[in-house]
Amino acid sequence: MSKSLLFYEKEDYYDYKLSKNLDGFSIISISKLINNIDSININDYENEIIDISVITEYKNIQSITEQLLDQIPDTQLFICDVSKKETVEYELRFIFETFENIDKTSYEKLNSSKNKDPNNNTPLKLHKKVTDLHDDQLTQFFIDFNKNLYGHSKFKDDFEEQVRIFQVFNKLGENKILSLFLMGESGVGKTEVARTIFNCLKGEKKFAKINFGNYSSEFSLSSLIGASRGYRDSEDGEIFMKVRDSDVGVLLIDEFEKSNATLFNYFLNVLETGILESSLGEQIDLNGFIIIFTSNITKEDFKKRISPELRSRFDYKCIFTLLSDEEKRKYIEFRANSIGKKVLSEYEVDLTDQIKKHLVNEIKVSNFKNMRDINKKIKKEFIRYLGNNISIRKNTNIGEKAPLGFPDKILNFFKS
Ligand SMILES: Nc1ncnc2c1ncn2[C@@H]1O[C@H](COP(=O)(O)OP(=O)(O)OP(=O)(O)O)[C@@H](O)[C@H]1O
Ligand SMILES: [Mg+2]
Repeated sequence: MSKSLLFYEKEDYYDYKLSKNLDGFSIISISKLINNIDSININDYENEIIDISVITEYKNIQSITEQLLDQIPDTQLFICDVSKKETVEYELRFIFETFENIDKTSYEKLNSSKNKDPNNNTPLKLHKKVTDLHDDQLTQFFIDFNKNLYGHSKFKDDFEEQVRIFQVFNKLGENKILSLFLMGESGVGKTEVARTIFNCLKGEKKFAKINFGNYSSEFSLSSLIGASRGYRDSEDGEIFMKVRDSDVGVLLIDEFEKSNATLFNYFLNVLETGILESSLGEQIDLNGFIIIFTSNITKEDFKKRISPELRSRFDYKCIFTLLSDEEKRKYIEFRANSIGKKVLSEYEVDLTDQIKKHLVNEIKVSNFKNMRDINKKIKKEFIRYLGNNISIRKNTNIGEKAPLGFPDKILNFFKS
């Protein structure tokens, strides 16, 4: 065996990658091979350089690497992040014969910098953040936020206070990220908080949301922060893709308690430094971001499941309680207005008041805890209302202006 492993320094990674790309090579993560361990075709990797940095995330480093590399010719190029040197040199001492640093003079240095997005070389200033809002914009932001999120008045007051403190201390360089931990029953608006912030900051792309329920296995860190585990065939982890695909400085981590200690520790570091770092050494600066963690756990479980270090790292923790009946009614009115508006613009018929009256009368709000269930009921009742009032179109003015096919067309519109 005469395989050799070359170490790169993180800051040189993108220069190295680019120069190799120009030579016709691409770099892939070893996790891609691990995922296909039973169907490796060595010819597929002729023009690939295999980055093994992520191997340290796996439990059986030796056996997994051995099993893999046995199938691959010695001429294959292998590289690794130098920060993993100690572990890798020890664990893989029988697999690689030589360990060396990449010769920096062998490739051209470009002016990549860690504040740039390595994929398109534009500075990552693309996210709209609360820290960038002027006073009057911030005031408007809270007016919109408070209007669109129903109930939770204590949270709203606290949130405003937290954001205002965050703005000041972020400017002073003390607070990189505002982290909120929201607990409470299903369907009371925890995720809605992040969505509302996104909308109020006028997000046009997607809002960045990760569900930690999908990240409970031992390989979860590599899925999240690097190496290809099927997320759009990319070597990047899901979290990088999601943050890059968004235009607002908000990141939602759902079902936080479902993941494991490795991920908790990773996030401990993110909250501390404000930097997301991939296993390939890419960094995204989250300075000014709001990160919202949500969970269905109870207050007691929160203490059991989340370590004290992490607990103390959240800037704000809150338990969302059920909405009051009055708040639920207001929500129904709001939904009736928005349905009414859609119908008006699509069919030039104004049904808003009738729909509102019907929904408020027919939906007994005290029977519902979860707002998702209220939403379903609203749709059902709306369809029922239209069904029962088909005759109206003949003898009242509701249907007169309606185009042919109303209300069947509307029925279909809302069934979709
Ligand atoms: N307080 C609220 N204000 C406005 N809309 C709400 C509120 N609570 C719930 N909703 C509506 O109900 C739906 C479900 O709410 P959301 O997704 O925020 O629940 P959740 O608390 O995150 O629940 P889960 O724990 O199941 O994820 C949302 O899409 C939203 O339309
Ligand atoms: Mg949710």
